Amino acid sequence: MASRFLNLLVFYFVMEGQALLTRISLNKGREISHIRGLERHLKILKSQRNRLDQGGIVYLKDYENIHYYGEIGLGTPSQRFKVLFDTGSSNSWILSNKCQDMACRNHRKYSSEKSSTFTKNGTMVSLQYAIGRLKGFLSTDNLELAGMNIENQTFIEVTKKNFACNTLFDGIVGLGYPSPAMRDVSTPIQNIFQQGHGHCVFSFYLKSNVSDNNAGEILFGGIDEEIVEKTTLRYSPVTKKHHWQIAIDRVTVDDGPSVCDGGCQASVDTATSLIVGPIGDIHRINIAVGGDTRAISGVHTVDCDSIASLPAVIFTINGQDFQLKGEDYVFKVTSEDGISCLSGFMGMNLPNNTWILGHTFIKNFYTVFDMDESRIGFGKLKNEQKLIKVE
Ligand SMILES: *[C@@H]1O[C@H](CO)[C@@H](O)[C@H](O)[C@H]1NC(C)=O
Ligand SMILES: *[C@@H]1O[C@H](CO)[C@@H](O)[C@H](O)[C@H]1NC(C)=O
Ligand SMILES: *[C@@H]1O[C@H](CO)[C@@H](O)[C@H](O)[C@H]1NC(C)=O
Ligand SMILES: *[C@@H]1O[C@H](CO)[C@@H](O)[C@H](O)[C@H]1NC(C)=O
Repeated sequence: MASRFLNLLVFYFVMEGQALLTRISLNKGREISHIRGLERHLKILKSQRNRLDQGGIVYLKDYENIHYYGEIGLGTPSQRFKVLFDTGSSNSWILSNKCQDMACRNHRKYSSEKSSTFTKNGTMVSLQYAIGRLKGFLSTDNLELAGMNIENQTFIEVTKKNFACNTLFDGIVGLGYPSPAMRDVSTPIQNIFQQGHGHCVFSFYLKSNVSDNNAGEILFGGIDEEIVEKTTLRYSPVTKKHHWQIAIDRVTVDDGPSVCDGGCQASVDTATSLIVGPIGDIHRINIAVGGDTRAISGVHTVDCDSIASLPAVIFTINGQDFQLKGEDYVFKVTSEDGISCLSGFMGMNLPNNTWILGHTFIKNFYTVFDMDESRIGFGKLKNEQKLIKVE
């Protein structure tokens, strides 16, 4: 089993002017999914699966293919962990060797006793995620991220975890803005830049077609001009400095309906797999793109043969159009029974009708999270036929 994940991570540095750019390559998980807020629905799908006819079956394990993780080190000598890099949260946590729960088995766990740079803190912390609850306490140690050594990073050592026993990752690195609840804990991003490792900018490239071990890269400190057509980058101001949230002007199906007229808010989230929006809006999009009307909990199937002829869906953000074609927003899931195709648009009513732009969106554009200027940029990927219509 483990050998399937012996993917080598390549860290390297590029000097550009004064800025030190650091990359971390991402492996695409094949064991699990971490779809924030989706898990609840997946359980429903699972329980209904046997009652559906073959055509509507959605195989849960196939959500596996849309999950990205990378590797970090903690402590001295360095203990290695697989983590999600999550722009949708501000907290960072790692499973502790003090965790006895089933959900902590078969994972690497942090042992503070084995680290010479560990500093005890011990403040108790409890986190509620959509998929379950975590409990633990704060600890401080050196964090090695993409080859950078970040001193005295405070993180949560998880001692209780009540969800997802077979997850592939051992923790999360929160890349969100500092959370109001944990204001006096500096996030890794704050520490990276306070400790002089470059500009307060990081960029994601998530590959949509992973045929080798490298599923993409995160670049801390700038943008990777080998991957993005720099002149196509278009920025939008962050509207809420907690999640990475921006305003969308509207979402339009080519030759079809338009939703979010008059504008809506969206969180750009590297740890969510799909594009999530209000149930009514997403239903209209999915019907317009020929999605199966028997959607279960917001997830629609589409006819695999129709992908090439599906209409484009256009997100207008800060006056710019970002276009997703059928092949961009439909994903294929493979099971014993063959291939089925799912729409990457999922309905869920979140507070204030907020949307989430997850992997289905991000993988089509180079995505820049710029804390210095409080903005998010999307740019055209080189070597890929992803079009951004630039006026
Ligand atoms: C634990 O860390 C928090 C956040 O950095 C800090 O405010 C608090 O003083 C620390 N407590 C101890 C006992 O070190
Ligand atoms: C980290 O903590 C150690 C011990 O408290 C201290 O000597 C060192 O200066 C700290 N490093 C930074 C970058 O704050
Ligand atoms: C994915 O990559 C493989 C290998 O490079 C290639 O053969 C295949 O055509 C690609 N698929 C798509 C949809 O681009
Ligand atoms: C919803 O919008 C209102 C008004 O803009 C704002 O005060 C509130 O904080 C928002 N709630 C959430 C959960 O974003």
